[in-house]
Amino acid sequence: MAGRLAGKVAVVTGATAGIGLGTAKRFVKEGATVVFNGRRANTGAETEALLRELAAGGEVCFVQADVGVKEQVEAVIDRAIKDFGRVDALVNNAQRLVTVKPIMVKPDEDYQRSLDGGFFASKWAMQRAFPIMREQGGGSVVNMTSGWAWQAPVNTSDYAATKAAIEALTRSAANEWGRYNINVNVIAPYAKSKSWEKYEAANPEAARLSQASNPLKRAGDPEFDLGSLALGLVTDEARFITGQTFDGSGGGFYLRRTHSSTEAWTDKL
Ligand SMILES: NC(=O)c1ccc[n+]([C@@H]2O[C@H](COP(=O)([O-])OP(=O)(O)OC[C@H]3O[C@@H](n4cnc5c(N)ncnc54)[C@H](OP(=O)(O)O)[C@@H]3O)[C@@H](O)[C@H]2O)c1
Repeated sequence: MAGRLAGKVAVVTGATAGIGLGTAKRFVKEGATVVFNGRRANTGAETEALLRELAAGGEVCFVQADVGVKEQVEAVIDRAIKDFGRVDALVNNAQRLVTVKPIMVKPDEDYQRSLDGGFFASKWAMQRAFPIMREQGGGSVVNMTSGWAWQAPVNTSDYAATKAAIEALTRSAANEWGRYNINVNVIAPYAKSKSWEKYEAANPEAARLSQASNPLKRAGDPEFDLGSLALGLVTDEARFITGQTFDGSGGGFYLRRTHSSTEAWTDKL
């Protein structure tokens, strides 16, 4: 049976680890050709080999590129167009991270770096992919936000602002590009990515509590939970869905668990 993305070309940014890798795996198993990037050449080559083994009819291509540099992220899109002739799906997954600091001492450069490696990265890739998507009669864009865009934890204001800007960009693009059959959505993930593993190793109790307070009691799997959500949004069946923010956190971002006495009652059932 042909895969759900057979014959389609997808670009996934930041796909050498974590949710990007999970998404790329999910896509290649469904027959897509996947062009992806990361900043490190050696990890890129290893990932390329891994994805080729999983591929079900499509091709796989790594481009070494930092999404925070306009020419480099544009080159990823250009490679997909040059080698494979189309871009059906664009997943703007990569996000440059900067050190945590309170607003009072956080320099402008931190905000600029975060915006360049998230908001502008997504905008640059979308602008580059738009003409080919319009010409070929449609396409899908999936961006990545975070529950932190709404929860705004202390000392991460650059990240929260960047993710909030990505959500607004998503809705604007959905409005502007719907007439070209291009749908644009955004996912707020919570997953056991490479970053999560580092966080868990440094803060085991916080990571345990974070999962315990999640309705599904766990962080998501990068491939089977988050990759599947992205897959669902780029298939033809999702072509009437646009401008939406999807909770990819097992309900954790929308369903707040606030009252311990009610929880204790539920646990007795
Ligand atoms: N995991 C979560 O629970 C969670 C929660 C909220 C939001 N998110 C969002 O989900 C997305 C993926 O997060 P993740 O946790 O899966 O990350 P991750 O495990 O740290 O993986 C990041 C991937 O992106 C690449 N990357 C990082 N910076 C890059 C840059 N400037 N240019 C190109 N590639 C870059 C990395 O490769 P190189 O290092 O080789 O470049 C790697 O392949 C991000 O947008 C993040 O903000 C994740």
